[in-house]
Amino acid sequence: MIRLRHIYKSYRMGSMAVPVLKDINLHVRPQEFLSILGPSGSGKTTLMNIIGCLDVPDEGEYLLDGQPVESCGEDELAEIRGKKIGFIFQQFHLLPDATAYENVEMPLLYHKIPAAERKARVEETLERVGLADRMTHKPAQLSGGQQQRVAIARVLAARPSIILADEPTGNLDSGSGREIMDIIRGLWQAGNTIVLITHDIHVANEAQRKVYVRDGVLSDREEDI
Ligand SMILES: Nc1ncnc2c1ncn2[C@@H]1O[C@H](COP(=O)(O)OP(=O)(O)OP(=O)(O)O)[C@@H](O)[C@H]1O
Ligand SMILES: [Mg+2]
Repeated sequence: MIRLRHIYKSYRMGSMAVPVLKDINLHVRPQEFLSILGPSGSGKTTLMNIIGCLDVPDEGEYLLDGQPVESCGEDELAEIRGKKIGFIFQQFHLLPDATAYENVEMPLLYHKIPAAERKARVEETLERVGLADRMTHKPAQLSGGQQQRVAIARVLAARPSIILADEPTGNLDSGSGREIMDIIRGLWQAGNTIVLITHDIHVANEAQRKVYVRDGVLSDREEDI
């Protein structure tokens, strides 16, 4: 499903190239729940952006469902992202003036889903994250955990098969973080592939498998890096 081979990525700072990912090899199987652990600045978000087709590597091969991503143009990448991948971030990125309902509906309008199906999907996903009674609330009228649940409902409404979560509990207290992790585990049990990025070992331990990044190098074993 997700297969990275010999991936390199550096950022250009003036005339210098700063290497960030160095020879990353990673295979994520369908319906696997993987966590990627690593300290701040180790390259986790850079790696997630590549897995999520938000960025492209300088070198190496990325096969997503057998398709080489390097050969895709911008439009194709946007289509892959829209259809296959859902992103959950530390920041909720909700529209402040829109209700929970409208926030979840937004990508469905963009994808031109017909009105009746749109309504069904928005209500179903908000119910699934436990917010049936908060649909007309705006983000400022919701707790942090509830805002993250709206962001997750918005992802689910588009029905992605792969969910990429970058520090999804990073802005939350432990109780709300627990609720979000329960929802993420539920998505995995329902058949989604989950890649969870974190620097918190307790969060990472919820996954089936852990890999570690340090200074842009990936390893299956913590002691190797
Ligand atoms: N757009 C950019 N331009 C230049 N350097 C960048 C850019 N984005 C990231 N970097 C550098 O790449 C390295 C890895 O960054 P990245 O955001 O992937 O780390 P991270 O593991 O996600 O860290 P954190 O846990 O703090 O989120 C850092 O040293 C960072 O300074
Ligand atoms: Mg990061």
